[in-house]
Amino acid sequence: MKPSRNAFDPRTDPDVPAGMSVDLLKDLHLLTRDGQLNADARRKLKQIRHFVGLLRPALDDALTRYPAPTVVDCGAGKSYLGFLLYELVLRQADRGRLYAVEARDELAAAGAARAARYGQDRFSFVGGEIAQMGGGAGAGAGAGVELPPRLHVVTALHACDTATDDALALGISRGADHIAVVPCCQAEVARQLTMGQSELDRVDAALVRQPLHRREMGSHLTNVVRGLCLTAHGYRVTVTELVGWEHTAKNELLLAHRVHRFERESRLTLSLLLDRWKIEPALVRSLRERGLDPCAPAPPG
Ligand SMILES: C[S@@+](CC[C@H](N)C(=O)[O-])C[C@H]1O[C@@H](n2cnc3c(N)ncnc32)[C@H](O)[C@@H]1O
Repeated sequence: MKPSRNAFDPRTDPDVPAGMSVDLLKDLHLLTRDGQLNADARRKLKQIRHFVGLLRPALDDALTRYPAPTVVDCGAGKSYLGFLLYELVLRQADRGRLYAVEARDELAAAGAARAARYGQDRFSFVGGEIAQMGGGAGAGAGAGVELPPRLHVVTALHACDTATDDALALGISRGADHIAVVPCCQAEVARQLTMGQSELDRVDAALVRQPLHRREMGSHLTNVVRGLCLTAHGYRVTVTELVGWEHTAKNELLLAHRVHRFERESRLTLSLLLDRWKIEPALVRSLRERGLDPCAPAPPG
């Protein structure tokens, strides 16, 4: 059927990413059937477009350095980010492979079916927990799909709670050249601060006495520790805003680029910080379990 002369063309909306298939955006329910963006979809697309824009230099670097770079998106959900990354970057480059790791099997299965429908044959889905990706194969949807040993770019956008730490541990342990995470809410360090309160000096104790302050400080310390773990493992880290704070409160982006093997100063700073606040956040535990203690004066080997 011919579109009516007055049919709305979504490509005239500046929030619809240029180069993106309108049909795919409709299939993802980011566009309504008549091609409009509702407020939620507009907000989500704005975040993802910014994220893709900020990731561009990392992706270009990986595409320059490797014939077929591997990009892994952790805690992918419906894979809005993955579908945009594929269409706007990997399809145009005509090389590289994208993996989405998602704990909810039904989302991984739906993503795999959608990628097949839209001819995204270098986009694979792995159902399962990020922390279980060590051995490679996903257990659920996409069973048999394995993450390759070497990952080049690892991302996580609003992966719940400590799933962000699992993504960081995966990236660090697989020597990813670039890691980019926008953390979600974080509660575990606030709980550790509650338990360790009596051991803090009076000034630090005052900083976390009120539950609201403890939550804020817990979240702040978590991201500071994440940055230090990355620098301890040789990454240069930039912390910046993803979009304006009016769009989302979960807006802190950690962008990391591996430039050395390790960094001694951050290792010392990190161990002093953990000791001062009597905390051991998930990323530190996870790296220690992998024999990659970020506080050790130098990595083994
Ligand atoms: C808030 S959603 C964000 C989804 C997507 N990244 C986005 O920004 O639209 C978080 C997703 O992470 C998934 N997730 C949480 N913990 C996970 C884990 N440990 N391993 C894999 N996926 C996880 C959840 O199932 C959920 O789909």
